[in-house]
Amino acid sequence: MKHSLLLKLSCLIVLSHLLLPELNAKQEGKHARLANFNPTEIWPDADGNHIQAHGGGIIKIKKTYFWYGEQRGKGLDPKYRYVSCYSSKDLLNWKFRGNVVKMLPPDSISDKWVLERPKVFYNTGTKKYVMYFHLDDRGYKVAEVGVATCDRPDGVFKYVKRFRPLGHESRDIGQFIDDDGTAYLVFEDRPYGFRIARLSKDYMDIEKEMTIVKAHMEGGAIVHYNGLYYSIGSALTGWNANPNKYSTAPTLEGPWTEFKDIAPVATNTYGSQSTMLIKVVGTKKTTVIFMGDIWKPRTQYDSRYLWMPLEIGDGKLWLPEPKPWKLNIKTGETSFLDKQ
Ligand code: GAL
Repeated sequence: MKHSLLLKLSCLIVLSHLLLPELNAKQEGKHARLANFNPTEIWPDADGNHIQAHGGGIIKIKKTYFWYGEQRGKGLDPKYRYVSCYSSKDLLNWKFRGNVVKMLPPDSISDKWVLERPKVFYNTGTKKYVMYFHLDDRGYKVAEVGVATCDRPDGVFKYVKRFRPLGHESRDIGQFIDDDGTAYLVFEDRPYGFRIARLSKDYMDIEKEMTIVKAHMEGGAIVHYNGLYYSIGSALTGWNANPNKYSTAPTLEGPWTEFKDIAPVATNTYGSQSTMLIKVVGTKKTTVIFMGDIWKPRTQYDSRYLWMPLEIGDGKLWLPEPKPWKLNIKTGETSFLDKQ
């Protein structure tokens, strides 16, 4: 009796030793933690897979960042459109939380439809995560937003409806949450320019137009920095990169200044297109990160990211030449590493 108990115990110990490394590896992810941002390079998630969150948006819930984007990985079922979700505490090491949207075309939309640039807002009143995305047909003639909701950040989002915000055409969308928590949608209205509009109280509608910036720009992103609003956008050249530009205004209603370049024109924004500006308010410094996509239209699964801390202040904004860099998520400080 005693012997068999001892045998069982030693078997258990041997087994746990054999299994533990495997369990630990799973818990910590198969991939080593990243120390720096490497713009334009493959960006591995915790499992070692290139992050698939293109045209994305980020929200912070308590201390966790959630990154939603277009899932364009290999081997997806072409019948569906997918949105991925990743989470991180430091904006650098991301864990894949799953595809939160796997959707067939809604109602009368054709099979060759488009779901792009998903943006999720968290509504503290209804406690719902509300996703907006660009919904279109292949010819980009529908020009609407789609709305889907979920009770969790990484649960399956349920499609609710589609519409043209305030009756206007809407293609590329961007999200902006002001310092007071008010949520806005930025959307490109082809005949007029780009609009910034406030979401309704429950975030299920677009309620009030703040401004129309009469510039034909997309990939719209906004940040509120040191008492000034900065907006960034790209020209309308499809998947091809172009010189992105910025404008500033004292209030969202404007007046917005003329658009100026954010990088040397010849670099075409170093081959990227804006999708969002993230403000990290640290204990020592506030850093604004330019979040851009480097599109590879023929191999979208390999599309890359260009994230760089911006030089920003006093009405000026500049995107430094991409190179590896570090972010201290607590202090907000950044430092550059020499390119290997
Ligand atoms: C870009 C846009 C992308 C995608 C692409 C299609 O201008 O920013 O999100 O819609 O066009 O050509």
